Amino acid sequence: MSCFSSLLVLLCLYNLSFLEALNGGFSVEIIHRDSPKSPFYSSSETKFQRVSNALRRSINRGNHFSKSMMFPNTVSATVIPDLGEYLMSYAVGTPPRKVFGVLDTGSDIIWMQCEPCRNCFKQDTPVFNPSKSTTYKTIPCSSTICHSVLGTFCSSSSITKNCKYDINYGDGSFSHGDLSVETLTLGSTNGSPIPLPRTAIGCGHNNSINFKGINSGIVGLGRGPVSLINQLGSSAGWKFSYCLVPATLNSKVSSRLNFGDAAAVQGPGTVSTPLFSKPQQVFYYLTLEGFSVGRHRREFGSSLSRFGGEGNTVIDSGTTLTLLPDDVYKWLESAVSHAVKLKPVQDPNQVLGLCYKGTLDKLNIPVITAHFRGANVLLHPMNTFVEVADKVWCLAFQPTQNGFGVCGGVACARGGVAGFCGGAAVFGGAFLSRQVV
Ligand SMILES: *[C@@H]1O[C@H](CO)[C@@H](O)[C@H](O)[C@H]1NC(C)=O
Repeated sequence: MSCFSSLLVLLCLYNLSFLEALNGGFSVEIIHRDSPKSPFYSSSETKFQRVSNALRRSINRGNHFSKSMMFPNTVSATVIPDLGEYLMSYAVGTPPRKVFGVLDTGSDIIWMQCEPCRNCFKQDTPVFNPSKSTTYKTIPCSSTICHSVLGTFCSSSSITKNCKYDINYGDGSFSHGDLSVETLTLGSTNGSPIPLPRTAIGCGHNNSINFKGINSGIVGLGRGPVSLINQLGSSAGWKFSYCLVPATLNSKVSSRLNFGDAAAVQGPGTVSTPLFSKPQQVFYYLTLEGFSVGRHRREFGSSLSRFGGEGNTVIDSGTTLTLLPDDVYKWLESAVSHAVKLKPVQDPNQVLGLCYKGTLDKLNIPVITAHFRGANVLLHPMNTFVEVADKVWCLAFQPTQNGFGVCGGVACARGGVAGFCGGAAVFGGAFLSRQVV
């Protein structure tokens, strides 16, 4: 009996600390995959090789975006794993095992590689073995959750009749396995770890990623019932925010992913614009209405529909560059090159269109204003230029042919100067941004 009551007390304590942590909101640290803290950090790559690789991944991802948008009904093309630049460390199972997932607002499921591996890619931490966890359970085919997740099915040959998932990404990467429930544990930056019992996860037994930066899977923060944010649900008020600190910046501030009240973005300079959703799409969409460079302003106005109309731009944590419709990009590049009184140089990687040689503060790069609906977001040089080689800075925007924009991490989430982490938030149905000061 005493054993029973102490067990009960333990369970109560466990639930209390869990709820308290959630009600006050909480934050987890995220790691840039190219930071020395990252398990994927390769000290043999130079800083600029890493930048160049990130940009190439960004461009590949942009191409996949265009495919998924042209064929919105193909479930398969909604997510692209190889470009997530930011990793979240978390633990899975009981006892907890540490894994790293790519943080992806363009993805709607949390999945990781699982034993037994029919086909797994190389990862640095041990592959999760569900048979060694006391809290792992597969989900029956008949369950609501199995029916509510895109890409799930039941194998008729399966004796166990458990729910399977099958995600195929636009670039040929995939993960197939069991949709299951398991305890995940997030490391909170301000205290004890946050256990998330009975979280729906994909336990992947046949996985492939088309990219050498190895990790254990994806942490999806997109729309859709089994993304991390929708599983936290009301306990985090469906709110999250993130601030991405460049890996190359010698900053004491680390990248954060915040949930619940901790996600609030406040203070002078905070602006807000509505988010849009689209059927069968897990992305968060914003409406971009134009740009200003210095005193030159280009508003799409009545031609907005030509630029994708309402919700013409995806905000995405997994892309580095910002992708713009071809003629918007051309206008922006030309306006910036008129404002910067220097002779452009070639991008040594031949990826980006407008580059200058010098130190960022000496280039006199104008502030670019992105006019989102009801929100002017000031993009400072650190949000518009990336250093691709020693003292070579390039405009971090790319043209795309598909009429849709993608606001990537550099423009839409980068912060971290002088102890203040500015950044982006997807918060209560609005995208908020606070300027870096
Ligand atoms: C893994 O999935 C791929 C793609 O669906 C399939 O071609 C392959 O046969 C599977 N491999 C194994 C070992 O099941």
